[in-house]
Amino acid sequence: MAHGKLHLDSRVIHGGQHPEPGTGAVMPPIFTSSTFIQESPGVHKGFEYSRSHNATRFAAERLIANIEGSALSDADDRTNGGFCFASGLAAIGTALELLDAGDSILCMDDVYGGTNRLLSRVRRRSQGLKVSFVDMTDLGKLEEAIRREKPKMIWVETPTNPTLKLVDLAAVAKAGKACGAVTVCDNTFATPMLQRPIEHGIDLVMHSTTKYLGGHSDTVGGALVTSDRALAEKLRFMQNAIGSVMGPFDAYLTLRGTKTLAVRMRRHCESAMRIAAWLERHPKVARVAYPGLASHPQHALAARQMRLEGAPAFGGMITMFLKGGIDESRRFLEHVRIFALAESLGGVESLIEHPAIMTHASVPADQRATLGISDSLVRLSVGIEHPDDLQADLEQALAKA
Ligand SMILES: Cc1ncc(COP(=O)(O)O)c(C=O)c1O
Repeated sequence: MAHGKLHLDSRVIHGGQHPEPGTGAVMPPIFTSSTFIQESPGVHKGFEYSRSHNATRFAAERLIANIEGSALSDADDRTNGGFCFASGLAAIGTALELLDAGDSILCMDDVYGGTNRLLSRVRRRSQGLKVSFVDMTDLGKLEEAIRREKPKMIWVETPTNPTLKLVDLAAVAKAGKACGAVTVCDNTFATPMLQRPIEHGIDLVMHSTTKYLGGHSDTVGGALVTSDRALAEKLRFMQNAIGSVMGPFDAYLTLRGTKTLAVRMRRHCESAMRIAAWLERHPKVARVAYPGLASHPQHALAARQMRLEGAPAFGGMITMFLKGGIDESRRFLEHVRIFALAESLGGVESLIEHPAIMTHASVPADQRATLGISDSLVRLSVGIEHPDDLQADLEQALAKA
């Protein structure tokens, strides 16, 4: 794989990239053609039909595979084990097709609401999957669920959306290997700048590229990465057979966004750390969950597992619990000016939302209550604006809560 030994800061720009062979263009063109000429039936330049082969998408796929640390070469797999999809959920849907009807899957109890909905309300019915949500912060519970359910797949997010719990990736990978289950990590929140699940032994990494990789809230997409040749072969077949591929315009935006991931993540992490520490002392705030705070129950694991160039770094997402309930949350959210009250995360602009009403409304109320996704919980995606402005914005909105 080209540029494999460079620092990540360089690989987000050059990883798996080659000048376009026809013209020497340094940045890949947006190839819009749906089909490609053949000299004779079956004789072509390696491109037949754009669902199967698109050079703009391939460039994005190779870049994401590179920064997630796939060891696959061009000889192993054309895009080095990276695959891009029309959305994060399309990537999840394709990964679930690795399972057979009736198989058992263990899923971390706190995950993005759409992941919960796809498993609980679609794949239980359409694929007969046996889905168990397990609090994998407790490895004893994971072991017990493995003995009981004999899973074929273990699905984790870390940090989780929205309560920012952590999962020990090396422990999950080990447990998955021991029972023969494919382990998958949704790495959307941490990004490969902070955490590369493949290095911990996880089989498959998933992203909503809509978030930090795209980085500008102007594209919807998803990705899967594996360093396992057999798994890559299955995914290449599935991606084409199911067809929920990323389009060339989105692939271009994803590629363009990912090139600045390293500089953006540094700022996201610095500003979020500062704002989390400030919020924790604010009289209107009951509690703050941020992996970088000493008060986070898994701070030690976070410092070990989430690192940027060798130093702990904890990402741009903060979860806060206001004093009060829905009225206080509503007043606070109605008064932010720089933070945009909107779903999604990971953009250059700061975003804020109310998971119980917005992103996690599809999680059943009893599950939300168990997880602590209450009316006072507000989720912040700290952008790369000046942190003084962000803090001032939260201060004036909190004054009105
Ligand atoms: C952690 C996580 N995974 C997956 C998804 C789904 O991705 P998409 O919205 O691109 O389908 C989201 C969306 O918010 C997410 O936050």
